[in-house]
Amino acid sequence: MPSDALAGAIARLTSGRPNSAQASAPTNWSAYATAYDMLAEYNPAYQELVQDFAAFLSAIEAPGLIYDIGGGTGNYTQVAVRSCPASEIRFVEPDDGMMSAARSKLAGHPNITFDGRPFEAMDAAGTADLVICVHALYAMPRPEQRLRDLAHLLRPGGWLYLIDLGRYLDVAEWRCYLFDHLKKEHGLFNALRIAWHARQIARQNKAILTAQKKGIYWTHSEAEFASLVTSAGLQIHRQQPVYRGYSDLLICSKPGSME
Ligand SMILES: C[S@@+](CC[C@H](N)C(=O)[O-])C[C@H]1O[C@@H](n2cnc3c(N)ncnc32)[C@H](O)[C@@H]1O
Repeated sequence: MPSDALAGAIARLTSGRPNSAQASAPTNWSAYATAYDMLAEYNPAYQELVQDFAAFLSAIEAPGLIYDIGGGTGNYTQVAVRSCPASEIRFVEPDDGMMSAARSKLAGHPNITFDGRPFEAMDAAGTADLVICVHALYAMPRPEQRLRDLAHLLRPGGWLYLIDLGRYLDVAEWRCYLFDHLKKEHGLFNALRIAWHARQIARQNKAILTAQKKGIYWTHSEAEFASLVTSAGLQIHRQQPVYRGYSDLLICSKPGSME
């Protein structure tokens, strides 16, 4: 992680008052935001997901209107704005820390608008050509209703690029996987240094696991997830376990066409 990014991360961690999303959430998303992009930099499983999304985007007709729901620090919107510079993008993220990281990353793109409301507070409109929702649905209240809201956001013929964490996040198993990878790529000393800087990720992932076990965060099998997506009126084009089997990817469309 570059040193100015690290300094910014530490400043955000130490200076911010808790925002409303963070006060009641099981995960401290703002604390997570301080280290979140180390996933993009060092976690090959995260990188694979972003690459898959880029490949998907290059294979479809350029969308006019894109929503990124629970967009975090803006990594998927960054791919979208690079690949589809003429698209209008609505970035939805209720956590102040995540939003602030996204705003700096995505600054200078007038075609992106930022919405700080939680998804459940939005009025679903039915006009989107593409909705992206990656690793956010499980953390939302009433995720089955939220899935129907995602479908409702789409115009007929529009795409939903959906990834959701379905299984318990085994933090110890992830730590071993990542540490082995870092050691191989960067050597033991650097692996230890990176792991120390990334400790907030492990801390928040533990909070996610606790919330999953308490039933506050949603868990599902691949089959349950697919069945709910179909009940929400969507047609599944591709479905596969991703993120080392912890998550499910579904690429879906809303039946019908605009003509
Ligand atoms: C694990 S991060 C994923 C971020 C991004 N999509 C990515 O994959 O890099 C989960 C995000 O969901 C957001 N989130 C949690 N509850 C939400 C809600 N009710 N509505 C919208 N986003 C929510 C969090 O603030 C957090 O930024």
